[in-house]
Amino acid sequence: MRVTVVGSGFVGQTTAMRLLERGLGDVVLIDIVEGLPQGLALDLRQSAPVVGFEPDITGTNDYADTAGSDVVVITAGFPRQPGMSRMDLLGKNAGIVREVVERVVPGSPNAILIVVTNPLDEMTYLAADVSGFPKERVMGMAGVLDSARLRAFIAEELGVSPLVVDAITLGSHGESMVPLPRHATVDGKPLVELVDEETLERLYARTRDAGAEIVGLLKKGSAYYAPSASVVNMVDAVAGRHDDVLPVCAWCTGQYGIDEIYVGVPVRLSSGGVREIVELDLNDDELAALRRAAEGIRAKCADLANL
Ligand code: NAI
Ligand code: 2OP
Repeated sequence: MRVTVVGSGFVGQTTAMRLLERGLGDVVLIDIVEGLPQGLALDLRQSAPVVGFEPDITGTNDYADTAGSDVVVITAGFPRQPGMSRMDLLGKNAGIVREVVERVVPGSPNAILIVVTNPLDEMTYLAADVSGFPKERVMGMAGVLDSARLRAFIAEELGVSPLVVDAITLGSHGESMVPLPRHATVDGKPLVELVDEETLERLYARTRDAGAEIVGLLKKGSAYYAPSASVVNMVDAVAGRHDDVLPVCAWCTGQYGIDEIYVGVPVRLSSGGVREIVELDLNDDELAALRRAAEGIRAKCADLANL
């Protein structure tokens, strides 16, 4: 499998490292900054004898080197700074994502695009529009990250291993994240039986603001370890290494009563992209929250046309 990672900043370089260390194939790291992807590729190759993987990485500024990619991960663009919302990045990052898609698609016409650049849902829509690819081959990464954060917070709260916590968030990557308390479990037990309503609300609020919490601490840039792990989990699924249901920003065609918009929903992935949108049993409030999130994204996507 050939995976191109566009953008060699914090998310891009940690994604490349994880892909290589997991032996997920031939990795191409590209950026507009001359020397950056080349230097990182050199450094990663030199880690191979110590970590123990077969190095297969190219660092480049030339899209010709990305040709024939099976998966393209788009991380190019500005991250948030303290006080910024993801939506504040819309204008700046739309131009970058548009340019990246226009340049990467001709050489990799059959690729799957995984968008990471924020604001995530709108950038995924834009990438799909600019690429002209079938919608199942364009998706965004956010739900795996938001769900991982929620699982980590639940584990900390209850003093258990994060490995026994299962939880999923849907909706948008931002204010309209939709947590699903009825679907969260700890060691197989329903979370709602283990914590009170107030604790649940606190956990969800922290998850919703988890990106900003990290931005506030770092003071420069945003999270990248959990984001890159989440991207690689999606690439793993595309590569057929697992068949887990993952929350992914995917194109809905009537599922959950949502039509023709990208929003975070549970999916199964395969080598062709989104193989299936899984329809969980949602109650009326959960459904309404998911539909509200979708309509919010639709409105912002309409703004893209006026940029
Ligand atoms: P960063 O600033 O460390 O790296 C961004 C890289 O993009 C830089 O190396 C820059 O030179 C490159 N770049 C800019 N314009 C480019 C172009 N036209 N072509 C190729 N490369 C270009 O930022 P970081 O931390 O890697 O974050 C990247 C993006 O991912 C941000 O928009 C951030 O908000 C988003 N993000 C999204 C997450 C999600 O859950 N969807 C999680 C974490 C970050
Ligand atoms: C995050 O949630 C910045 O969207 C990114 O960390």
